[in-house]
Amino acid sequence: MGRKSGMKGSFKERRQKWKEESERIAQAQKRVAEANKMTDPFQELSMGAFQKFDRNDISINIEAKRVADLDEETLQWCIDLTKVNMQDIYEMSEGGWSDRAKREEMTHESVWYLIARNQQGQRKALVHFRFDMDYEVEVVYCYEIQLVKEVQKKGLGKFLMQILELFAFKTGMKKVMCTVFSHNTGSMAFFKKIKYVVDETQPDPLMDGEVDYEILSKPIKPAPPARMPTATRAADAVPTLVPAAS
Ligand SMILES: CC(C)(COP(=O)(O)OP(=O)(O)OC[C@H]1O[C@@H](n2cnc3c(N)ncnc32)[C@H](O)[C@@H]1OP(=O)(O)O)[C@@H](O)C(=O)NCCC(=O)NCCS
Repeated sequence: MGRKSGMKGSFKERRQKWKEESERIAQAQKRVAEANKMTDPFQELSMGAFQKFDRNDISINIEAKRVADLDEETLQWCIDLTKVNMQDIYEMSEGGWSDRAKREEMTHESVWYLIARNQQGQRKALVHFRFDMDYEVEVVYCYEIQLVKEVQKKGLGKFLMQILELFAFKTGMKKVMCTVFSHNTGSMAFFKKIKYVVDETQPDPLMDGEVDYEILSKPIKPAPPARMPTATRAADAVPTLVPAAS
């Protein structure tokens, strides 16, 4: 009768699948490495039109920088604003707040920032993000999105997330992800409003125990076949994305 195996498919088929999966992961890692080689994603991805946000009585300029290229004063401002906005919310969580842990996270060598300034050059918002692998999938991971109070609820947060979505589309990442505390109801409402859904990597309460956060994501459709104009393909992937009206 031969030997039984719980595995599906012949050895040859399984070896072929394993080879294909290894190749896919290698390609994904290569895309992440390429994305991390950029110095100015807005210029290198032809997205200069998205560096201005002029709506709802605010006029903002946005730049993208790796942490290594950020001046110390701006980096400290990022850490300080994150503390102002988030310390209370972290203290309601199991892990609590740690100045040291947050500084380590925000100064890790793989960190990228979007920095948003008004016309006087005052900093008004930041996004801390990374091009990274998450469970063997290439992603843009949003670690922080922080706006100073006076520019909240004016569409800037949505616009900054749309920039990440377009970065992801143009660099071939599969999704944009973020982790949000369940009790951060404002932020949760924001992400749900801009169509983020619970990611497949969210821990299962039955298998893994209850957690006090949600892992959210938005899938990014890959570009359809080459001959279509780039503008059409970008619009397909991120339908709500439009440069800021002046
Ligand atoms: C959460 C945050 C990033 C949202 O950015 P924002 O610029 O204020 O939000 P937007 O104006 O772009 O809002 C986009 C949509 O989300 C909705 N939304 C935003 N904040 C909301 C809130 N607190 N409650 C309910 N809905 C909200 C808006 O009504 C808007 O919907 P619309 O498109 O129908 O008008 C910003 O308010 C912030 O920095 N908060 C403090 C820090 C924080 O919690 N960061 C997130 C950590 S994970």
